[in-house]
Amino acid sequence: MGWNSWNHFRGRVDDATVRAIADAMVSSGLKAAGYTYVNIDDTWEAGREASGRILTNRKFPDMKALADYVHGKGLKLGIYSSPGHLTCAGYEGSYGHEDQDAKTYAAWGIDYLKYDWCGAGRIYRDEEMQAVYQKMGDALRASGRDIVFSLCQYGRSTVWAWGPQVGGNLWRTTGDIGDNWDSMTRIGFGQDPLAAHAGPGHWNDPDMLEVGNGGMTNVEYRTHMSLWALLAAPLLAGNDLRSMSPDTLAILANRGVIAIDQDPLGRQGHRVRADESTEVWQRPLASGAHAVGLFNRGASPARVDVRWSEVGLTGKHVVHDVWSDSGRGSFEGGYAADVEPHGVVLLRVER
Ligand code: GLA
Repeated sequence: MGWNSWNHFRGRVDDATVRAIADAMVSSGLKAAGYTYVNIDDTWEAGREASGRILTNRKFPDMKALADYVHGKGLKLGIYSSPGHLTCAGYEGSYGHEDQDAKTYAAWGIDYLKYDWCGAGRIYRDEEMQAVYQKMGDALRASGRDIVFSLCQYGRSTVWAWGPQVGGNLWRTTGDIGDNWDSMTRIGFGQDPLAAHAGPGHWNDPDMLEVGNGGMTNVEYRTHMSLWALLAAPLLAGNDLRSMSPDTLAILANRGVIAIDQDPLGRQGHRVRADESTEVWQRPLASGAHAVGLFNRGASPARVDVRWSEVGLTGKHVVHDVWSDSGRGSFEGGYAADVEPHGVVLLRVER
């Protein structure tokens, strides 16, 4: 859990902004809710000095000092690179300097690397991807620092089959998310076939959150957050934490939803049933309870039901509404709810 600069700031991220985001992560209560990583995406890089050591551009005058600042808040700092000559935004990549860059990140105090294929496509074939990611995975392991390794190659070459082997802790499963209903739902509801590949230490990554960026309604952002929680997805906020509305904060910080996302069993949820406009999803939890999402993808209100038999349950079960943190009672056979257009009713169901 954490934050990443790309979705909101693109190339306009700098040292002062990252510090202010770290401040806001603490003061807003998001740190207390579990958000930890403050991740700088593309556009921090300059060229290299004669020795080959990577340089930061003038937006980031002192990366070590920035890491110290972020660590001083009890948070962690992430960075970004590409295995190619150039990153997606055309900045310096790690090609030919993998070991050196991993050591530099470690010396700065970096805790997380997002490694984005992009420019690597010009020099490597897709069949070489695994070896290319292995190279940086080995370099990070040899760096002397515990650095989360985030693979970003848009879900190509069945990355979920080899991601853990190269040291990957998460891997993108899709192209970039956009701050709109179509993009979010195409990605989120498309993750069902990958459920078996996620587990503790190695996760499917359906991309960063758009919650609070303005392109969707709060109803839609609750659907976004609920889906990502059922998917055991990394929760990387992508909005400006310095100026969140109370609604945005309430969506990002909902304790019950976060508990589902971070459930220690680490099983990714799956689709139980779908029709033209509604979907039912289920995720088993460590306590023996189940998270169940009743989704309405349609434009008019819908009654969505779940039968206990289709989620592998029998007898009477207690139903808790997660977003409102309220008990709904005890039900035999199943449960049904009215779900608003583009909305969700997220449940915790337990014996
Ligand atoms: C790619 C990635 C994005 C972001 C940009 C930065 O598009 O998928 O998440 O990192 O590059 O240039």
